[in-house]
Amino acid sequence: MDAYILGIESSCDDTSAAVLCNNRLLSNVINSQAVHAQYGGVVPELASRAHQQNIVPVVDAALKQASVSPGQLSAVAFTRGPGLLGSLLVGISFAKAFAYTLHKPLIEVDHLQGHILSHFLLQEGKDAPRFPFLCLLVSGGHTQIVRMNGYFDMEIVGQTIDDAAGEAFDKAAKIMGYAYPGGPIIDRLAQQGDPDAFSFSEAHLPGYDYSFSGLKTSFLYFLRDHLRQNPNFAKENAADLAASLQHAVCHSLMRKLIKAANDLHIREIAIAGGVSANSGLQHALRMAAERYHWNIHIPPLKFSTDNAAMIAIAGYYKFLRGEFADISAVPYAR
Ligand code: KG4
Ligand code: ZN
Repeated sequence: MDAYILGIESSCDDTSAAVLCNNRLLSNVINSQAVHAQYGGVVPELASRAHQQNIVPVVDAALKQASVSPGQLSAVAFTRGPGLLGSLLVGISFAKAFAYTLHKPLIEVDHLQGHILSHFLLQEGKDAPRFPFLCLLVSGGHTQIVRMNGYFDMEIVGQTIDDAAGEAFDKAAKIMGYAYPGGPIIDRLAQQGDPDAFSFSEAHLPGYDYSFSGLKTSFLYFLRDHLRQNPNFAKENAADLAASLQHAVCHSLMRKLIKAANDLHIREIAIAGGVSANSGLQHALRMAAERYHWNIHIPPLKFSTDNAAMIAIAGYYKFLRGEFADISAVPYAR
């Protein structure tokens, strides 16, 4: 019998709902909150209020686009964490009330697992990764190399000890005067710039861990010094600054990923999370794949940044295992 899963994601600044029939996506509605752009980052209080306004129309639209009635659903999957508590609470409370009144089971999903399992959404002409594989999970809140031994058997091989890669992009863009989220803006600018124009200090931690706070500081001081001499420095050199920063971030991300793949003898490699949309990172991954004979998996843009399809697919695999959540489930921030 087919399983119809409703997924709900509200961990940060995107309110999203998706409907799956088994691993096949029927709808994926995302309302990205525009209110944060002017503040240079996500304002938690505004995010939870916007989720409250969005959640009912977004779920309604997802069900209608999928032509699935609430009664047809097999289960309701929701993001339990990590994320902003006030934002998570809106999605969780809605999911609980919806499932309870419909007498449907609830499934809790970890947001990071969702990002990785998005690779298992059925896509024409694309194979899902085979276990074991390594996934570089790079978003605004996380930067990790994860070894996936099974759908829910994950080992963290390395991770950032301070800022996430997306945070480095967003903060650098903010220093240059751009709105949040800055990652896509840096990516666009970088395509016209010289990656070797400027050099910023990269961290050299032992093992597989990352650090991006030094890079951010180095970028900040570099820009501050030059702006003192020329107030138009950031504008005049925007493309070269973006390309050089992107080069430093991607170089750092790839160096540890290559080391982990070589040391662990794994050639099945995936990337996931918002920063996996970065064209420089995708290019670097393709180059490494050629050199090291990797089989690589890059998510399409609609599945790289936050979305509920990834929550629904993780929910689907939990549904198959009969892993259901309790009505008393509470959100977790980290
Ligand atoms: O996964 P995501 O949507 O939310 C979190 O779970 O954090 O990731 C958002 C992050 C932001 O930092 C955003 O700037 C970054 O992903 N991002 C990008 C690109 N698209 C999104 N960073 C670099 N290049 C991009 N093309
Ligand atoms: Zn995310």
